Amino acid sequence: MPIETTASVVAEVPDDAELLAVPYASDLSPAVDLHLPVSDLLAHYEAKGEAGEIVEVPVARGGGIGRVLLYGVGDGSPRALRRAAAALTRRAKGRDTLTVVVPEGDVTAFAEAALLAAYTFRIGETGKKAVRALAFAGADEGQVRRAETVAHAVALARDLANTPSSVKDPAWLAERAAEVGLPVEVWDEERLLADGFGGILAVGRGSASPPRLIQLSYTPAEPADRHVVLVGKGITFDSGGLSLKPTDNMKTQKTDMAGGAVVIAVLGALAALGAPVRVTGLIAAAENMPSGTSQRPSDVIKHYGGRTVEVLNTDAEGRLVLADALAYADAVLDPDAVVDIATLTGAITVALGRNVGAVYSSDDVLAKQLVEAGQSADDRLWRMPLIEDYTPALESSIADLANVEAGSRFGAGSITAALFLREFAGDRPWAHLDIAGVGRSTVEEGTLSKGATGFGVRVLLEWLTRG
Ligand code: BES
Ligand code: MN
Ligand code: ZN
Repeated sequence: MPIETTASVVAEVPDDAELLAVPYASDLSPAVDLHLPVSDLLAHYEAKGEAGEIVEVPVARGGGIGRVLLYGVGDGSPRALRRAAAALTRRAKGRDTLTVVVPEGDVTAFAEAALLAAYTFRIGETGKKAVRALAFAGADEGQVRRAETVAHAVALARDLANTPSSVKDPAWLAERAAEVGLPVEVWDEERLLADGFGGILAVGRGSASPPRLIQLSYTPAEPADRHVVLVGKGITFDSGGLSLKPTDNMKTQKTDMAGGAVVIAVLGALAALGAPVRVTGLIAAAENMPSGTSQRPSDVIKHYGGRTVEVLNTDAEGRLVLADALAYADAVLDPDAVVDIATLTGAITVALGRNVGAVYSSDDVLAKQLVEAGQSADDRLWRMPLIEDYTPALESSIADLANVEAGSRFGAGSITAALFLREFAGDRPWAHLDIAGVGRSTVEEGTLSKGATGFGVRVLLEWLTRG
């Protein structure tokens, strides 16, 4: 159940709108004449014009009582407009239609946030439903359609990540990927073995549901001069494997395929947005479980391309599946840039918290593009350093690399994980997004709902379609 709220554009404000939202500027003047003592009302409610502030006024409309929602827009920045829009949608919960006179400024950001705030995920009986329809007065069709495409892509990523792991195994994820309407290729366990994807196989070994590598291909209508590969971590449940997680840490790990979900959702939206680049999506999917067939701490595995890794901790599994996909992208797909996205380390939540994602990159231009795209798309990213001094952390005495540091001399868990991935990305411009902190929300607020956030969809779509 993604976003059930519809979005449309209306040319004029209907006289009988049951629920009408009208912005007021910082001087507290309304955008349209309402035949109401607006400034007295706002003064009465001590309104300041802040984004998220709403003054609700009952009015006589079409023979009954309608309501006008006077809403503040703060400084009018995209960020403020997003906040204002989300507040309106939430206020209109349970209602039929909310007609919104759009504010000055970035109407696409405004409409996108209004739709995202309507997202709900529930299995079984539903509570109060989100507003059924949003009608944007004064918007143009293109702005609202783009907002809708992006919001629905975010909702798809959230739905996939919110789905319980009793439902979503790697094969299920491959079926969902096939539904986005692009050419798809799926490696099952036999083909993974034949082609040497030792990392994905090792992580998936303990599970009754075998792993998959999923490839989606988007080719634009006009011949493209750039080819981008997106790689997503698709761990459909991360128990830690034999290096088992404690109870409290395990209960959130159905969302450990959030990166893969983002890749599926982004690929699915590229055609509608007319992205001018060729994009290949790879989702490395496996379930990390303890059993008699699981990989063991101290096993040595062989990745795609032949590199060996000593697995010292089976809970550092994301980097193992990603390494295969990155090595494959480098060896076979010949991309101009590779970006991976993964709920990779608990350590990044310590560093950046729940509002800002991490970007690591070997390429200053790529890093800057992603940070800027994140800023305008509202998936904020902070560039983290690849500290060379820490590369010895991943040395192994018996294999080419170890998947975690044997001791605790270096620390910096998110950085060393990124350094591990870099080993497999080749010499191409590469960026890694660690979304373990931002992939899941603990609050129901603004454009966020509790559970999966879809973080990454908006920044990647911004980068691929507007960059
Ligand atoms: N999936 C986890 C990371 C994670 C933690 C995501 C919390 C979302 C919320 C990842 O596979 C993991 O277990 N990482 C370990 C790495 C460690 C063993 C080096 C971690 O962060 O503890
Ligand atoms: Mn893990
Ligand atoms: Zn994991």
